[in-house]
Amino acid sequence: MADGSIVALLDGTLVDPAEPLLRPDDLGVLRGEGVFETTLVVDGHPRDLDEHLVRMAGSARLTGLALPGPDRWGTAVAAVVGAWAGGSQMVLRLIASRGPERGEPVCYVLGAELPASSLRQRRSGIRVLLLERGFTVDVGASAPWLLAGAKTLSYGINMAALRHARANGADDVIFIGADGAVLEAPTSSVVVARGRTLITPPDEAILAGITVRRLFRAAAAAGWTVRTERLGAADLHAADGVWLASSARLLAPVVSIDGRPRTDGGLTGDLAELLQMPARS
Ligand SMILES: Cc1ncc(COP(=O)(O)O)c(C=O)c1O
Repeated sequence: MADGSIVALLDGTLVDPAEPLLRPDDLGVLRGEGVFETTLVVDGHPRDLDEHLVRMAGSARLTGLALPGPDRWGTAVAAVVGAWAGGSQMVLRLIASRGPERGEPVCYVLGAELPASSLRQRRSGIRVLLLERGFTVDVGASAPWLLAGAKTLSYGINMAALRHARANGADDVIFIGADGAVLEAPTSSVVVARGRTLITPPDEAILAGITVRRLFRAAAAAGWTVRTERLGAADLHAADGVWLASSARLLAPVVSIDGRPRTDGGLTGDLAELLQMPARS
């Protein structure tokens, strides 16, 4: 199979990843309609799979998509994990494209090698730019059609922001709302530390991050204070540490913001331990 990737349908059948799976008139292709989840499989164990299945069901509800139940997804995940012959860390994607007009959604699971850039960024950190996102945090309630909290296949804006960052000497982005509020990154949540307190923005108009939730659960159990709080750019600069957290890359310390170098306060190791980051990362 091409480049070692593995693809399974929800009945557990493996299909060739080099062969087309979607029709040309699939609304996922035509309009970015569909939902997905990404998680990491470490030594054959998918992280937080149940939480990802719950969030995908929520995204499907928000987009009016009827998806197969968690057992069916579990069958495909097991097939991909069972067939995996690559490294110890695999990126696992659960994908539901809306399918053709009046057709059924096309659902599959894709396993692929964790990119070397993710491993590097866990270790060496990331330079971020603050970019405007063009809405305020209240759109979650006032404009639900913007699907602010859903994980949909429409990631064109997020990818454009990342390209902008890379063209301007940075690795990643933190989106800032029209009112100056820190939101999230194109594929991650934002976490800051003030002493032994971890803070993340409330998930009013952003994706409710599973990695942050897991980090905060473990941190609270270990005696840290954790809370959500509206943050501005000045809070990022003043914090003891800033990280981007997501299911595949897990945790990357921010080493500069808009070209201004910053440290992680020596805390990345502690947070990585709380998150049970794989040792070989
Ligand atoms: C826009 C956005 N925000 C936040 C996250 C982090 O979420 P999680 O930790 O559940 O992967 C992601 C990752 O998928 C994302 O795409």
